[in-house]
Parts: sequence; C-alpha cells; structure tokens
Amino acid sequence: MTDVRAIILAAGKGTRMKSETPKVLHTVAGRPVIAYVLDIVRSLKTFVVVGHGAEKVRAALGDGLTYVVQDQLLGTADALRRVAPLLKGFRGHVLVLCGDTPLLEKQTVQRLLAQHRRSRADATVLTAHIHDPRGYGRILRDAGGRISAIREQKDASPREARITEINVGVYCFQAQKIFDVLRRVKWNARKKEFYLTDVIEVLLARGGRVGTVLAGDASSAFGINTRVDLARAERVIRMRILSKLMLEGVTIVDPATTYVGTGVKIGRDTVIYPCTVIDRDVVVGKNCRVGPFAHLRPGTRVGDHVEIGNFTEVSRSRVGKNTFMKHFSFLGDAALGADVNIGAGTVTANFDGRTKNRTTISDGAFIGSGAVLVAPVTIGKKAVVGAGSVVTKGKNIPAGAVAFGVPARIVGAGLKPARTKG
Ligand code: UD1
Ligand code: CA
Repeated sequence: MTDVRAIILAAGKGTRMKSETPKVLHTVAGRPVIAYVLDIVRSLKTFVVVGHGAEKVRAALGDGLTYVVQDQLLGTADALRRVAPLLKGFRGHVLVLCGDTPLLEKQTVQRLLAQHRRSRADATVLTAHIHDPRGYGRILRDAGGRISAIREQKDASPREARITEINVGVYCFQAQKIFDVLRRVKWNARKKEFYLTDVIEVLLARGGRVGTVLAGDASSAFGINTRVDLARAERVIRMRILSKLMLEGVTIVDPATTYVGTGVKIGRDTVIYPCTVIDRDVVVGKNCRVGPFAHLRPGTRVGDHVEIGNFTEVSRSRVGKNTFMKHFSFLGDAALGADVNIGAGTVTANFDGRTKNRTTISDGAFIGSGAVLVAPVTIGKKAVVGAGSVVTKGKNIPAGAVAFGVPARIVGAGLKPARTKG
C-alpha cells in the first residue's frame, strides 16, 4: 500500500488522566495505549503528531516512525496540518487515527480503506452507533441519508445531541484535497480549536465527495480519557487475549481473574487456574498446569507437561519439560532442565544487591522443600539438595551428588528419591 500514509494524532494533553505520563503512554494489558493503534498501521509509513510529553512519547515508541511536533495544541485540524509539509507532492491517501483508541480493530480500518478506494471519495469517515454518544462528534445526514457534517458535542443543538451515530475519529482522505481544505477550516472560538471535523462541510461545499463506513463493533470508538476508561479497555483487551487462547485449545478456568499479556503463547490442553498472571511474551508448552495464584513474568519459557502451582513466581527463566514446581516457590534468572522437582518453598536468590545472577538446575535434579539456591550456582544432573539447605554462591553441586545443610555440603551420591507426584 505504497499510496497510503498513516497519521496518528497524539499531541493532546490527556488532562483527565491527572498524570505526569502522556495519555497515549498509559498501558493496557502491559502495552502503551498507542501501541494498539500502531499495530493497525504497521505496514504503512506512519507519522505521529506529538506535543504534550513529546520527548517521552518519542522515547517510548522509538525510531521507525516520523514524529511531527505540534508545539501549540490548536486542535485536530491544526495537528493534521503540521504533517502537510512532509507530504508535499504525495498523491495518495492519508489514513488519520487518534492515539487513544486501543480497542479499534484492524479489520474495521481495512474496511474503511477499501471503501474509500472503491468509492473514489475525497473523504471517508468511520462512524459507529453507540448507546451513550456524549462527548463524541455526531454524524449529521441529509434527507438522502448522506453525511452532511460532523457536529461536535459543544456545538450540537438538543436535537443533534440525540443522534447516536458518532464520529470514531478515524478517516481516510485524498491527501492533496485534505491539505488544501485544511487551510480553510475556521477557528472555533467556543472551544478555541481548529476542528478537523469541520473539513467535511468545507469539502462538501466545494463539491467534494464524502462517504462513511459504519464500524460493526461499537468498542472501536472507545477512546481513553480517564483511568476508568483505561480499566474498561483493559477488561476488553484481556478478554480478547483469553478468548483467542481458549479457541486455540487452552483451558482458562476463570477468565475474570486470569491476566494474560499480549504475545503470550500457550500450548494445547494446558490449564490455567484462577488468579494467575502471565506477563507479555511468556511461552508455555502443551499439557501444563499453571496456578492457581501463579505469576509468570517476562522472559519466561515453560516446556510441555510442566506444573507450576500455587503461590509461585517465575521470572526470566526457562523450565524444561515434565518439571514440577507445585507450591510457593520463586525462580528468577534460572534455567531448569527436564524432570526437575522443585520442592515447596524453594527460592533462587538471584539478586545480590548489585546484579542479577543465574541459577542452573540440570535434568532430573531434586530440590528439597525450603531450599535456597544462592546464584550464580549450578545444580548438576540428578543431584539432590536436601530440605532446608542453603546452597551458597558458586558452590556448584555435581551431577548425582547429594548435598545438605546450611551451608550445603556434599554428603553422598546417587540417593535420588522417587519423585512424588502429589
Ligand atoms: C474528536 C473529534 C470527535 C470524535 C472524537 C472521537 C474533533 C474536533 N473531534 O473529539 O468528533 O467523536 O475525537 O474520539 O476532532 N490532538 C492533537 N492535537 C490537538 C488536539 C488533539 O494531536 O491539538 C489529538 C489527541 O491527542 C487525540 C486526538 O487528537 O489523540 C483527538 O483529540 P481529542 O481532544 O481527544 O478530541 P475529542 O474531543 O475526543
Ligand atoms: Ca478523545
């Protein structure tokens, strides 16, 4: 789609968030609100209009996007106008989106683009029917049902205010046309802004063609203004993530208390028990049992047939297949082989006050209850660490050895107990 450029308006203040953090950087399911909008336009060359907290937004989103600074927040029309100099001579279309609508879905935007092209309109506006249209621009239509204007809440008559078809804030424009008419948008004295929505009337008055596309799902329009909105978006996105996993063959016993971040992969027939948190990009294999009350943190990879039970935390760690860690334990910066047993209350002491250190627990090792493994340390294959032992920093336990005590000393070899399944 070399003839389409995306423009994301994200300069606004987000006053109602009452925050030092720019609105679009507040997170939903562990990702900035604007990241969801960026996902939609990933394949397009994208301009982001930044203003309030510009440096923070830029730092968070990184290179690969073109930033355009709107130094004074003079409204959405002014924001778009800032991009004009960068698209001089560009004859294609611009897709304009807002940075604060994380629930907008890609298919909806694709439909908008497709119709915009097909109809050869100068502008195509995404609309939605919603129960409570307060705060949104209303879509006004003429007797023939064609869009005639977008009326902002503040300027709406009581009759107009009853209209429930609203402007989502996503548009396709023929680039040259829009940058031409943007110059003609008048200052709205009441709101002290240049409204982008006013371009519809200007275009129509000049004989331009404007179409609309109705979003099937009203949540597309949902914009974040307050932290209450943020929590609502969180719930929707979380449910989308969980539904996708369930349809792929994962059992989620209680979606209401299960938190799974984006990019998480979970194999078939794995069961996630209630009150479990799985952070973004974690990978869990097939036929595992996770939770209740487990927390898998970023950088964690879990093999097949693994059990990670109650009150456990696993952070930046690899866990090999058939390994059990069933009760209140912590693994941080650890690499576990296959068939390892982690006894109740085992802790990897991975942080020495300065750096995070690694713990390796090799295939078939058996760690007794209440053991503390002070990293960096390696437990060899089929080694046994007795209950309550403290394996001190660097005191590696060789394969097959039995170690016990505080600090742990090697007391024998080959005494591996049968692994309990209970
Ligand atoms: C806007 C629309 C409204 C629509 C609603 C959908 C206008 C005049 N109104 O209203 O019809 O129903 O979005 O959510 O466009 N922004 C800038 N620079 C500015 C002002 C805003 O970049 O000077 C950005 C904001 O960061 C935000 C987006 O533009 O991402 C929309 O601005 P906002 O102030 O939230 O507009 P609304 O009042 O919600
Ligand atoms: Ca808004």
